[in-house]
Amino acid sequence: MTYRVLMLPGDHIGPEIVAEADKVLRCLADAFGLAVELEYANLGGCAVDAEGTPLPASTLGLARQADAALLGAVGGPEWDGLARERRPERGLLAIRAELGLFANLRPAILFPELAGASSLRPEVVSGLDILIVRELTGGIYFGDPRGIRERTDGVREGFNTLVYGADEIARIGQVAFAAAERRGGQLCSVDKANVLESSELWREVMTGLAPSHPGVELSHMYVDNAAMQLVRAPRQFDVMVTGNLFGDILSDCAAMLTGSIGMLPSASLDEQGFGLYEPVHGSAPDIAGQGKANPLATLLSVAMMLRHSLDEGDLADRVEQAVARVLASGLRTADLAAPGDSVTPTAAMGDAVVEALRAEAG
Ligand code: IPM
Ligand code: MG
Repeated sequence: MTYRVLMLPGDHIGPEIVAEADKVLRCLADAFGLAVELEYANLGGCAVDAEGTPLPASTLGLARQADAALLGAVGGPEWDGLARERRPERGLLAIRAELGLFANLRPAILFPELAGASSLRPEVVSGLDILIVRELTGGIYFGDPRGIRERTDGVREGFNTLVYGADEIARIGQVAFAAAERRGGQLCSVDKANVLESSELWREVMTGLAPSHPGVELSHMYVDNAAMQLVRAPRQFDVMVTGNLFGDILSDCAAMLTGSIGMLPSASLDEQGFGLYEPVHGSAPDIAGQGKANPLATLLSVAMMLRHSLDEGDLADRVEQAVARVLASGLRTADLAAPGDSVTPTAAMGDAVVEALRAEAG
């Protein structure tokens, strides 16, 4: 069987980093027999420009037929003035919702060679290996009613709704418990149950799942404390599970612990194992077109895709090991370079990973 992978380069540095993923996938096909077919489509600002909408029906159709999709990044200042419905970010939110990609896995792993790049002391972050499981298709991002309206006194107000069904909480909870079972057996559920009813239910449902996962130790933490603990003593965490908005914020925070957001991959999965894979970082308009982007988060996203959607765990390990070897050999993109280090451009970094893979193939 040949896997179909939909490539969605997106905007600004998106095409530059997805080009490196293309190289790596073709190398896996050549050198390791991966049966994969790559198709390309527009999502985000490029789709607005080419097709008038951030998520064209043709892109959605191709995604539904694919086994997995790889996204670069979407967005940029040139589209900020558009109506909300036509902005690039809407394309991303819409594809998550349309495809039911409710489970967002965001690992934050510190490569030993990069301990010095973290803004925290090496002894606080060394050995860091956290998985944030973020609910991605519910909560305040999608709750109704929402809008901007005028109060009776004539003053405008903006409003959103934070709502979680017990079924949505249980579904993401199951993913998180299963992940904790495979990893260190610790699950911390993050909420704001001291203030929010939606969090009260969240905590109740998570607690109810615990007895069917005796190998996992469940704890609960308020989100404000979780933010503090992430920068105080991040290694206390194994798996964290939380709602859409809290997960958005905490995953950026966790990302920075590892030294560079340019290193972090993510997976957004549906109930059947289809996934949209993307680096956690954005489209970085300020460095686009200069060969400064770090392609490693995208290549590590390819590894997650191989593992979670394509059932090629072995090749996933190989990609991750190739990335580790390239870092160990001293190559650094601009975001990782210490003062005085020589800087490796985007494409050369991708080539180095391909070479490391080929060296293993013999
Ligand atoms: C993310 C991003 C998105 C989000 C934006 C671009 C809509 O910040 O994937 O974390 O808020 O989910
Ligand atoms: Mg975010």
